[in-house]
Amino acid sequence: MKKTIIKGTGRYLPPRKVTNEDLTQWMDTSDEWIEQRTGIKQRYWVPEEGGVGTSDLALEASKIALDRAGWTPEDIDLIIFATLSPDIFFPGSGCLLQHKLGLETTPALDIRQQCTGFFYGMATADAYIKSGMANRVLLVGAEVHSTGLDLSTRGRDVTVIFGDGAGAACLEGVDTEKSIGILSSCLHAAGKYAEALMTEAPASRVNPRLTVEMFEQGRHFAKMDGKNVFKLAVKRLPEVSHEALDKAGVSLEEIDLVIPHQANMRINQFFQKTLGIAEEKMYHNIQWYGNTTAATIPIALDEALEKKIIGPGSTVLFAGLGAGLTWAATVYKFPENSISR
Ligand code: COA
Repeated sequence: MKKTIIKGTGRYLPPRKVTNEDLTQWMDTSDEWIEQRTGIKQRYWVPEEGGVGTSDLALEASKIALDRAGWTPEDIDLIIFATLSPDIFFPGSGCLLQHKLGLETTPALDIRQQCTGFFYGMATADAYIKSGMANRVLLVGAEVHSTGLDLSTRGRDVTVIFGDGAGAACLEGVDTEKSIGILSSCLHAAGKYAEALMTEAPASRVNPRLTVEMFEQGRHFAKMDGKNVFKLAVKRLPEVSHEALDKAGVSLEEIDLVIPHQANMRINQFFQKTLGIAEEKMYHNIQWYGNTTAATIPIALDEALEKKIIGPGSTVLFAGLGAGLTWAATVYKFPENSISR
């Protein structure tokens, strides 16, 4: 059976750095509060004047990933685009990216699974590859959060957390008996928690989709029951990690690096302790980017490869939880002869 391997990765962060201190010009917050509660020091946002959409960030990350994979855009059989912040309401950012890559008819699929978008995307790409429906998949996770954040004190609990960015991976099917590539994917969802983290409007269940009243109430901004999401994350992340390890037939000792979703440094510290893995095997970059949702995992993966923390032969555990509620884990083993930088 085919195995799905990562041929190349790339990331792109917009150039506008926003520090915690910068946020204090709009809302009642402090560097100390943000750093203590979340671990975040700064994040990157698209230009304030607008004009840069999610697919623009995705294009930059994709170009790097394609180059490293040795692919041209024409080599792509399928584009999978994970985002909760599409450029426009419809069509999906995957179609916009396809056009920006200069492609004419390549299929493009959007995934709206928020912080686990990249996990759902990896599982979908793997299934397409194993079924023979595609062999080369460009998987992108990208977000522009900043244009949808409440910059007033009303929204400070959510706004301080999120950053913009994009990450991409070129996934390819290879014929091998070796235990390499995506070894397991475990995906979960619990819609009963949908309101624990959501952006309500524009909403098709409301007519018109965004009323003046809703706008004034800030219902087009993300709302979060942070404490509840925190509690669910520290329970579900270790649980789904063990499930993915069991499914892959890989022990925790064999894991070289855990790349968790970056929602809160404290969540990941709890996660590391519950899982019982050494501190240096847990990857953190939330300090620099905040929570970039679907972009988080591919950005961290690209960075870990660049820093040579992982490389040929490494086994990585990815785990994440976010809006939906959705949570997921993936175990991936790099082939011995690929992805060196
Ligand atoms: N700056 C200063 N004060 C803030 C603030 C900010 N940015 N945001 C909230 N506060 C205040 C609150 O108003 C509250 O004040 P009060 O005690 O006077 O009412 C106090 O800080 C505590 O707020 P609370 O929401 O209870 O803080 P918390 O310890 O739960 O931390 C989060 C908030 C968001 C950092 C935390 O709940 C979290 O990270 N949750 C999980 C997020 C997550 O995983 N999301 C899923 C992926 S997107």
